[in-house]
Amino acid sequence: MCGIVAAAAQRDVAPLLIAGLKALEYRGYDSAGLAVLEGGEVHRVRAKGKVREMESLYLSNPFPGGTGIAHTRWATHGVPNEANAHPHMIGRITLVHNGIIENYAPLRAQLQAKGYHFTSETDTEVMAALIDQNLSGGRGLREAVLATVRDLEGAYAIAVISSEEPGRVVGARRGAPLLVGLGIGENFLGSDAQALVQVTNRIIYLEDDDVVEITREGAQIYTLDGKPAHRGVHESELSADAVERGEYRHYMQKEIFEQPHAVANTLETRISAAGVLPNIFGAGGDELLAKVKGVHIVACGTSYHAGMVAKYWLEDYARLPVNVEVASEYRYRETVVPPGTLFIAISQSGETADTLAAMRESRRRGYLGTLAICNVPESSVTREADLKLMTHAGPEIGVASTKAFTTQLAALALLTLHLAKQQGLDEERYRDLTEQLLRLPRTLEEALKLEPQVIELAERFVHRHHALFLGRGEHYPVALEGSLKLKEISYIHAEAYPAGELKHGPLALVDEDMPVIAVAPNGPLLDKLKSNLQEVRARGGELIVFADTNAHIDGNATRGAVLRIDAGGDFISPVVLTIPLQLLAYHVAVLRGTDVDQPRNLAKSVTVE
Ligand code: M6R
Repeated sequence: MCGIVAAAAQRDVAPLLIAGLKALEYRGYDSAGLAVLEGGEVHRVRAKGKVREMESLYLSNPFPGGTGIAHTRWATHGVPNEANAHPHMIGRITLVHNGIIENYAPLRAQLQAKGYHFTSETDTEVMAALIDQNLSGGRGLREAVLATVRDLEGAYAIAVISSEEPGRVVGARRGAPLLVGLGIGENFLGSDAQALVQVTNRIIYLEDDDVVEITREGAQIYTLDGKPAHRGVHESELSADAVERGEYRHYMQKEIFEQPHAVANTLETRISAAGVLPNIFGAGGDELLAKVKGVHIVACGTSYHAGMVAKYWLEDYARLPVNVEVASEYRYRETVVPPGTLFIAISQSGETADTLAAMRESRRRGYLGTLAICNVPESSVTREADLKLMTHAGPEIGVASTKAFTTQLAALALLTLHLAKQQGLDEERYRDLTEQLLRLPRTLEEALKLEPQVIELAERFVHRHHALFLGRGEHYPVALEGSLKLKEISYIHAEAYPAGELKHGPLALVDEDMPVIAVAPNGPLLDKLKSNLQEVRARGGELIVFADTNAHIDGNATRGAVLRIDAGGDFISPVVLTIPLQLLAYHVAVLRGTDVDQPRNLAKSVTVE
């Protein structure tokens, strides 16, 4: 899950490549590098750290050239340092790679025996050497790449240049994203359309096992057996503005505040006062959903938490049995799939390796069909699903998911309503749920007004090392999501529990140094939650409660704080009560001075296993 960008142009490409890499940093930021081919000579610059470190090295010693490749890395094989940074050069070949080559060790040994000398710990350098070796026998770069990828096991997206073939870049993909950007008199490769938005909106999405050759004049795609292939050209709707940070201090803050608008986009043209509109899941969607007798949801991280909320919704309102599982577990075990089960993959990026592999695996297991809930059109998950419901959240740049989560919930709420109606939910209740969902964007807007109070609260966390999050029912996944947000951007160790579980172990952790954060919607479980909070209080724990305005919680009896928020109704309250938890994590991280948008060791899109 690194980022790749490449160009074949008349103008100097290094500044374009650097701009493209900056848009791809969400995929990894352990090191960055670029190489440019000019008059048969390759100039390269690499640096540990973010793209800006490499950029300042480049600016201190810039070089011209119209053909180039560039890379931002999320380390897999080998520590993040300059030697392991891409591009890697061996013989005539310079190469960047995203993915993991599983059979690199035996290949490396064979190549070493033939005299190749490696200077990094990466699997990528092995690929470069193999291509160089395959150039012998009169093969050109494209043929050498084709011959090489046939021998590779694992996942890759690559861009390669040869010092012997000026003006040409060859790319290839299997299991990792790569697309072609078509310009005027110049052409590009990138890991996604965002990387190329500065130069073109005309995109060709490559398929697995495609090999592509780009020059200034055009792009030619080949299948693995070397035959020319045709892939359609798409107009990407991304605009350069959509990926600007604007007045906000961080992308995460911008994305938190975009949520009312983003959720409105998810709902737009899909629901009216009468309920969910027909045919919102794509061609044949309503017919397929009419046969659903159960649901399996598979996802990772934040998307998994969205799936957990949906389990409560679908079981409560549609009375359908639901299993939710993290994709990395699902893909490697045998599940029981009762007849009529729908498989749902939830993914912001649509490129998460485990989710994609789980979806592919599900094909073998006899589901009724697959539905993708995804933010990125033309992503692998979207393209491979039978049905899709795009979340329309717009690009999410901050590594910590915020608007991706709430828009996934909005999409899952639409699905819940569709299935609930079909399963015979009482009409009055259906109308009530519909009204709540239609009010969601406005309710989220109100919830965001809590920011000043959350900022004050954040001060209390600056020197903390641990935190506990509690919730019950569909607010337990909200607590999980809150704890994930806090740990990933503030590096404070946080755990979440269903509040009723506290007394079965975690209560032992509670003392005056352990803040306990609870989400308290108004509803039948409120009294139960209050008893759980008493257990914390009795142990001297500091309680921070985000409570629905209608929920009777005595603020004075609490060492800590109770913040009131209009949760908007029992259906949408998990979405609304997520907002203060996102704000809390964000402001704690800001106060602790961490790298909020690009927290250590993580990447936005996890395209490796
Ligand atoms: O793109 P996906 O939704 O498939 O990504 C899955 C997880 O990697 C992701 O949700 C991750 O947990 C969040 N970025 C954390 O905030």
